[in-house]
Amino acid sequence: MKKILVTGALGQIGSELVMKLRNIYGDNNVVASSRSREGNADVIESGPFEIVDVTDGKQIVEAVRKHNVDSIIHLAAILSATGEEKPHLLWNVNMNGLYYVLEVARESKCAVFTPSSIAAFGPSTPKNKTPQDTIQRPNTIYGVSKVSGELLCDYYHEKFGVDTRGVRYPGLISYAALPGGGTTDYAVHIYYEALRSKKFTCNIKEGTKMDMMYMPDALDAVVQLMEANPDNLRHRNAFNITAMSFGPEEIYREIKKHIPEFEMDYKVDPIKQKIADSWPDSLDDSAAREEWGWNPKYDLTSMTIDMLEKLRRKLNL
Ligand code: NAD
Ligand code: SER
Repeated sequence: MKKILVTGALGQIGSELVMKLRNIYGDNNVVASSRSREGNADVIESGPFEIVDVTDGKQIVEAVRKHNVDSIIHLAAILSATGEEKPHLLWNVNMNGLYYVLEVARESKCAVFTPSSIAAFGPSTPKNKTPQDTIQRPNTIYGVSKVSGELLCDYYHEKFGVDTRGVRYPGLISYAALPGGGTTDYAVHIYYEALRSKKFTCNIKEGTKMDMMYMPDALDAVVQLMEANPDNLRHRNAFNITAMSFGPEEIYREIKKHIPEFEMDYKVDPIKQKIADSWPDSLDDSAAREEWGWNPKYDLTSMTIDMLEKLRRKLNL
């Protein structure tokens, strides 16, 4: 990667990924983009920034040509919970957006990284140690878009030789930007409330395990996979990756070790619970480990120590 365009750059992942990529590849070589200028000022001001609505293919073409881009990190998307409220919007952004990105990549010979998700699995998928290659019959519009996206990226690689790569991210936990409408968002909000009000009402039921990951590992995955030797990649477009798997009561107990007065109760959101119940309990990420050396650094204990320290600083507590 030499000249990179990041779409959806002001979201949960983009806000941190752009800054990491600018550190590695140089400020002027990472073009951040979003559909508006609302969001993280550091991202907008520390290097080139373009308005790119991914549902308008022309705007992607113009940004790629203007900056001579060779790699597109495509993050613009609608996430699982918002998607169930607005399925038509999700389809337009997630599917047409990806299609336009792939078309521009084909014409301009760009590499493409697009994240898939644990949502690409469904109720009939094996729940424990979910294999890399297994049944994928998701029952959310978000999951349907993720499976379709995986297949479309495979197709563009096989048919047109586009260098497409991707991972199936689990729920991502971070302190820089808030999550953007997903089912795993509770695992971020719990840290804010543990510090601010010492009380948290969880919208996911006790015992609901989902894969999760701390943001520094999620960012490393992008760089590691995009810089990996293509000869070693058998599963280009959707590597299972995970760092930990827990239910709400486990993250609560871990935070309580540091904030003994912290209390949690439950008010389950039926839509989010149905989505969570359809996803795996834990992924098998051995293909990523074997093919490009995936090896996350953070577990629940070390993530909790770092999250609380960084959030205390951010919230001036
Ligand atoms: P996010 O919602 O925080 O950010 C996405 C950004 O895209 C937002 O800033 C939004 O304004 C922007 N956007 C929406 N519509 C757009 C459009 N038409 N044109 C341009 N920008 C638009 O999401 P994120 O958490 O940063 O996720 C990025 C990618 O990673 C998505 O594909 C998501 O499905 C995937 N993913 C995220 C997680 C997670 O836990 N965060 C887990 C699995 C997969
Ligand atoms: N964190 C994401 C969501 O909950 C998983 O793709 O939608």
